[in-house]
Amino acid sequence: MGGAADVGGGSGAVVADVLVTARGPLPARGRALGEPETLRPGAVAWEDGAVTYVGPPEGFPEGSPERAGAGRRAAAVVPGFVDCHTHLPFAGWRADEWEARLLGRTYRDQHGEGGIHRSARMLAGASDDEVLAFCRPLLAEMLAHGTTAVELKTGYGLSVEGELRQGRLARRLAEEAVQTCTVTLLACHAVPPGWTREDWVDTVCRELIPAAAAEGLADAVDVYVEDIAFSVEDLRAVAGAADRVGLPLRCHADQLGPSGAAEAAAALGARSADHLNHAGTAGVAALARADTVAVLLPASTFSLRAGAPPARDLVDSGAAVALATDFNPGTSPVLSMPEALAMACTLYGLTPAEALVAATANAAIVLGQGDRLGTLEPGKRADLVLLDVEDVREVPYRPGHNPVVEVVVGGRSVGASHPGGGPG
Ligand code: NIG
Ligand code: FE
Repeated sequence: MGGAADVGGGSGAVVADVLVTARGPLPARGRALGEPETLRPGAVAWEDGAVTYVGPPEGFPEGSPERAGAGRRAAAVVPGFVDCHTHLPFAGWRADEWEARLLGRTYRDQHGEGGIHRSARMLAGASDDEVLAFCRPLLAEMLAHGTTAVELKTGYGLSVEGELRQGRLARRLAEEAVQTCTVTLLACHAVPPGWTREDWVDTVCRELIPAAAAEGLADAVDVYVEDIAFSVEDLRAVAGAADRVGLPLRCHADQLGPSGAAEAAAALGARSADHLNHAGTAGVAALARADTVAVLLPASTFSLRAGAPPARDLVDSGAAVALATDFNPGTSPVLSMPEALAMACTLYGLTPAEALVAATANAAIVLGQGDRLGTLEPGKRADLVLLDVEDVREVPYRPGHNPVVEVVVGGRSVGASHPGGGPG
């Protein structure tokens, strides 16, 4: 330990040459997405794990230790990154599939022998301890890249018992992790071997979702709408089942091809519509009017060498846009949020400020944590990252560089290498 947490347990302060945070009505939309508050210099203080002050350093109360110069100094400070779309827990990589795609196979070709089904077989073949041992260092690596809150998903269970097991493993990781973790039941990810699509959707609605809810395993329910997976009709059925147990809906929408999923997700009041590579003008217009957050996942676009979604149209039309890694062994073996910011800018044309707000404040809303996480404001949890950059634009400008020098979670400084363990 050491660093910022040393100014009292869970209390501390940082003065930075530049501090950038979203503030004000959230989710940030349109021009507001690219206009976070920027303080040069800026200061943040916290007590008992909650932010108490954000402003110029002269604003610290007269006579306070912070005014006298206690606390840390940093080149830059931003809120902790919120990775609102990942597929942890999983239990093995698929580099051979990625290489085969470089040589001409497609993700659709691989579906079955490879793809989601293969990750499901790897998960089923691993013991609980093996899965946890595989995932812990990945969560620690995420933390070292500044991710202070993260979504975990099921979707590699592919049976009622398999999905519940993956949900329990996700909850165990969540308990151990330094980060705030939420769990999404990706109940419809692939049709399990031996099932028809209709029977699986029916079982998901009648058995899996109620069982996961009764056991407290899920904070949201997700559906992969795609020609190789589930339909918009299936999404509607799952929406009804999720609604009956009070869980918000999320949707993998229009990733490989257009299906009308973005419009359907918006019409169903989904919490988010994610990917959106093939969303058309109707999808953009529907999201612009809706509370449904458009989650951009450029690292999967990069790994699949796919075309970009209408990201600028989404921002400019006023949709609430968030940004995440989609970390998974198939389409996005990328766990670094700074890397996701770089891809959102270079591949999708977001500005660095837009990418930062999308990856923090708006992403927290996707996790249902908008009142606690995602910005540096009094009353919110003191989750922040200290960066080595003089200008926050350098974060996406320098892909491959990890700009994170220190991470503070709940007011405590956590080192870059705490595999599975938190600071006391
Ligand atoms: O979000 N496309 C569907 N699901 C994941 C990939 C899962 C996998 O290939 O293992 C995604 O890209
Ligand atoms: Fe995904």
